[in-house]
Amino acid sequence: MTRVLFVCLGNICRSPTAESVLRQLLARTAPDLPMQIDSAGTGDYHTGSPPDTRSQRAAKKRGFDIGNLRARQICAEDFDRFDLILAMDATNLRDLRALQPAGSAATLRLFMDYAKDQQRADVPDPYMGKERDFETVLDLTEAASRGLIAALKDAR
Ligand code: 4NP
Repeated sequence: MTRVLFVCLGNICRSPTAESVLRQLLARTAPDLPMQIDSAGTGDYHTGSPPDTRSQRAAKKRGFDIGNLRARQICAEDFDRFDLILAMDATNLRDLRALQPAGSAATLRLFMDYAKDQQRADVPDPYMGKERDFETVLDLTEAASRGLIAALKDAR
């Protein structure tokens, strides 16, 4: 069982999108790969809120339903509950490294490390952006999710 936690700043745009996309791609393409998937934010501004309506709309256009998720802030226990904590951008990764308790065995990485055909390291924060920026989150998230599933299959 691989336990994966996606982390962005607010947990209302990028990380809930990644959580849903990976869960649904896994069900479609690798249903026998045992995984537990969740998401959280480094910030607590949106705790309890559903995903941003722009993220919900962009996801729905591609058949991903993310409306049932609710934002939460990462906590110390997450660093023991998850094996792989995937940051959406370099700032999230830096914040996670600062939060990781001594003795936590979780691996911290950039999610985009798994999107081998993409040149960029970050899933850019779309919050102050336009509809196109939310589409980009979906593009990058789908690519990295496929790469992550492939990597986990190879590791078996
Ligand atoms: P996320 O996007 O980190 O992808 O969920 C953001 C959501 C909210 C804010 C920033 C980024 N905010 O500043 O409230």
